[in-house]
Amino acid sequence: MSKVKRTYSSRSRLSHPSSSPSSSPPSTTKRKRFGEGAENEPPTKKRTTTKTPSSGTLAKSKQSGLRQLHFSIETSVLRACTICGLSYTRGAPDDESLHRAHCSRVQRGMEWGREEEREAEKAGVNEIQAAAKLKNGKKGRIICFKANVGGRIGSKLAILLETINLALSSPPLSNEILQSSKVYLYLIPSLTNAHREKIVGCVIAQRISTAMIVAAPSETLLERDFNQATDRDSTPSSPTHRLVAVDTTSGLFCHPQALPTPLGIPRLFVPSVHRRQGIASRLLSAAAATFIHGCPLDPLNGDVAFTQPTEGGHAVMQNWGRGGVRIYEE
Ligand SMILES: CC(C)(COP(=O)(O)OP(=O)(O)OC[C@H]1O[C@@H](n2cnc3c(N)ncnc32)[C@H](O)[C@@H]1OP(=O)(O)O)[C@@H](O)C(=O)NCCC(=O)NCCS
Ligand SMILES: [Zn+2]
Repeated sequence: MSKVKRTYSSRSRLSHPSSSPSSSPPSTTKRKRFGEGAENEPPTKKRTTTKTPSSGTLAKSKQSGLRQLHFSIETSVLRACTICGLSYTRGAPDDESLHRAHCSRVQRGMEWGREEEREAEKAGVNEIQAAAKLKNGKKGRIICFKANVGGRIGSKLAILLETINLALSSPPLSNEILQSSKVYLYLIPSLTNAHREKIVGCVIAQRISTAMIVAAPSETLLERDFNQATDRDSTPSSPTHRLVAVDTTSGLFCHPQALPTPLGIPRLFVPSVHRRQGIASRLLSAAAATFIHGCPLDPLNGDVAFTQPTEGGHAVMQNWGRGGVRIYEE
């Protein structure tokens, strides 16, 4: 599982070796943390597939000894949802309803209602763009507020972040990060309730100081050649510089120098039914344009960095930032 190296979760994984998919305890850990919104078993599709064999292994072990019958009952009701990837106990009302709520948030997003609007002014919510058009023609709006907001909006943000962290198998953002971050939300009118809007995208934008430049594909190939050479030959001539491997599976390497970079994106999320409508890109552009008052930032110029991205995040990073987006450690 070398690909499970996202910065989002790698630290937690290092400190929790039992989350290895080849061992059985993950389900226990996951269920214990399910309602807490802390780091969790990875509901990303990539890792969902690794969970299936895990429960299969347990199922097989039960066949070899009747003594473990209680084990088989436990594992047979544990289900990993193929949509959101979350594992939960089938038949346990609490687990089932928590899963249903999470699954719906991952697919369709949460609501932004009257209650939030009522507090918007007091909470310092700014409307960044009033009529932001999606690819499907629908219009929405982009709002922004501080990530350490309290009250009703703070509670809503906490659930949203919990959903995002679960979906990305990321640890919660620290208070320190939240203090230096802004939230950008993309809202579209609700189809079912005229007084409500749907949150169809979220970007957390964080003030950072440095980040690394992503290596060009040609440099990455050289690095791979060098790695292969060192595998074969124990006394290689060292290159003038080495690249930092961010994700070897996708071939994401960086130059190790930490360069001044003002804006970091530690979380980026669009519910699944609203993807590929340009929402993430628009939110990122809104964040780059407004994060520092009076000083628009340019991703092409290296002003913006992502934490180690997912596959989809990497694609957006390339498409939106045209190779100029950097990488930083959360
Ligand atoms: C990644 C994510 C935020 C993208 O949101 P989105 O609103 O669908 O992104 P956009 O519509 O702005 O995509 C812009 C471009 O990025 C590329 N892109 C986006 N998602 C992609 C995907 N899954 N596969 C390949 N390319 C993709 C495409 O080039 C796309 O342009 P196109 O639709 O015209 O081809 C969304 O898929 C998501 O929330 N995924 C789960 C959470 C996650 O992985 N977050 C990223 C953490 S780093
Ligand atoms: Zn689900």
